[in-house]
Amino acid sequence: MSARATTPPAIPLPLLRRGKVRDVYVVDGERLLLVASDRVSAFDVVMNERVPHKGAVLTQLTAWWLRAFGDLVPHHMLSADADEIIAAVPELAASRSGLAGRAMLCVRTEVFPIECVVRGYLSGSAWKEYAAKGTLAGEPLPPGLVESDRFDPPRFSPATKAESGHDENIPVTEVQRRLGDEAANALESLSRLVYSRGRDLAASRGIIIADTKFEFGRDAGGTIRLIDEVLTPDSSRFWPADGYAPGRSQPSFDKQPLRDYLDRERRAGRWNGEAPPPPLPADVVEATSLRYLDAFRRITGSPLVPTDAPNA
Ligand SMILES: Nc1ncnc2c1ncn2[C@@H]1O[C@H](COP(=O)(O)OP(=O)(O)OP(=O)(O)O)[C@@H](O)[C@H]1O
Ligand SMILES: [Mg+2]
Repeated sequence: MSARATTPPAIPLPLLRRGKVRDVYVVDGERLLLVASDRVSAFDVVMNERVPHKGAVLTQLTAWWLRAFGDLVPHHMLSADADEIIAAVPELAASRSGLAGRAMLCVRTEVFPIECVVRGYLSGSAWKEYAAKGTLAGEPLPPGLVESDRFDPPRFSPATKAESGHDENIPVTEVQRRLGDEAANALESLSRLVYSRGRDLAASRGIIIADTKFEFGRDAGGTIRLIDEVLTPDSSRFWPADGYAPGRSQPSFDKQPLRDYLDRERRAGRWNGEAPPPPLPADVVEATSLRYLDAFRRITGSPLVPTDAPNA
């Protein structure tokens, strides 16, 4: 286990789910509390070590984007400030150090079971499918594209939100069949709008957001809201803009030191690519933490002022 395995104060709310990175608590029928940990995963395996400030970066970057998109789309954020959250939910007062920086109080919604992926560049599972069959979610793409090519306009490329196993790319017509035309069209147009605004802004600050995944839900009043995390390194591919060249895979802005280390361990026969993960050297953890903090600083233009306590 990591040297930073300090136990944060327990959060006195019912735990709705524990994801690979985030814990979701029920406040009441209308509100949820999302708490992002410093857990990090690579190749779908969660590491034992904690990456300092990573949870705070995820939460505060989401909060920053949602404030920037306030005019574009209704969203779920009520507050990402520990004092405001405690004022709204006083029973959390004793858990302050476990919330600071990393918690977001949200409007509870019924989640649409669709991963709203938008791709601005041909990469990942989309590149694999295109290279094999010339299609994306079964629909033909122009011939002659190379890995990491830019799409203009970006492609809306939905996937099922699988409870277990891997998400499956599906055509837009399948989203319409599952959700009805009105909701399906809203999800597509909102996803495109938010991604395009985010892609342009990040590009002007040296980061390519190659693709991303949004989630949407419907609140008790029937409004469709952007939920979950937004344009973070965990929900998106971030590439450094200065080294971008199509025709090959691109380094990951945030997780490359971690991936390179794990690749070396695999090639040396010390790791089989599955859980349990190998122990990470301190310099790899530190480099990863600095990358997350750097992504936050570059995109928002200000450093993250850490208020978060170490997180187990
Ligand atoms: N406003 C909201 N209303 C209802 N559910 C929400 C809201 N915001 C986020 N969620 C849900 O909270 C969960 C966040 O958990 P998290 O992202 O850590 O796990 P996951 O995506 O289910 O799994 P993993 O990330 O481990 O693959 C998601 O299931 C997401 O759909
Ligand atoms: Mg998630």
